Amino acid sequence: SGPKPLAGMTAVVTSGPTHEPIDPVRYIANRSSGKQGHAIAAALARLGAEVTLVSGPVTIADPAGVRTQHVERAEEMRDAVLSALPADIAVMVAAVADWRVASSAGQKIKKQPGEAPPPLELAENPDILKTVGHHAQRPRLVVGFAAETQNVEENGRSKLERKGADLIVANDVSPETGIMGGDRNRVKLISRDGVEAWPDLSKDEVAERLALWIATQIGGTGA
Ligand code: C5P
Repeated sequence: SGPKPLAGMTAVVTSGPTHEPIDPVRYIANRSSGKQGHAIAAALARLGAEVTLVSGPVTIADPAGVRTQHVERAEEMRDAVLSALPADIAVMVAAVADWRVASSAGQKIKKQPGEAPPPLELAENPDILKTVGHHAQRPRLVVGFAAETQNVEENGRSKLERKGADLIVANDVSPETGIMGGDRNRVKLISRDGVEAWPDLSKDEVAERLALWIATQIGGTGA
């Protein structure tokens, strides 16, 4: 238990990658374990929020105390997120594939000896964070993530504006940081009030602190 400053509030969280089918057996995807998004969903629930977690394909367990919806594709993730509105809080952590295959094949594409590889035509996926950030039923607090390998603050700030978010949690995911797929994270919180750099923390600690930050912003009563 503990204090429940988010009691009576609803939250929608995205986590994991999306898989965009090429054919029934092949897909394109981003790298994402879902660890950070799942931890945030659990932390918001521990503070009393009623949480819907929309998860792409991951190998980790559904968090306790959360309603988890499993999806594969970005368009499915968008639909599930919009179905969860209205909500007080949105935290979009998923590593959504920017593109899907324009027309995925209904049958496995056969490799034909001597033939050139098939071309892949891509179509742009919906930007779920941007959709939520500009939605008529926009949650009171919209949080996005920014996985960057360079110019972390600058990219985070422009993302804040473009996507209509209140907060961008930016992290440096350069391979040498070990953040991708790892259990630790080092983030910067970029809001209109400025930048707050957090120390190296476990993903659970980042989730816990972020949930408390959200509770403070949204002015929970601590019922
Ligand atoms: O633009 P970029 O992908 O770097 O932005 C990252 C943020 O936007 C993350 O919060 C991610 O969950 C969200 N996003 C999204 N839908 C997309 C692309 C990114 O919700 N199609």
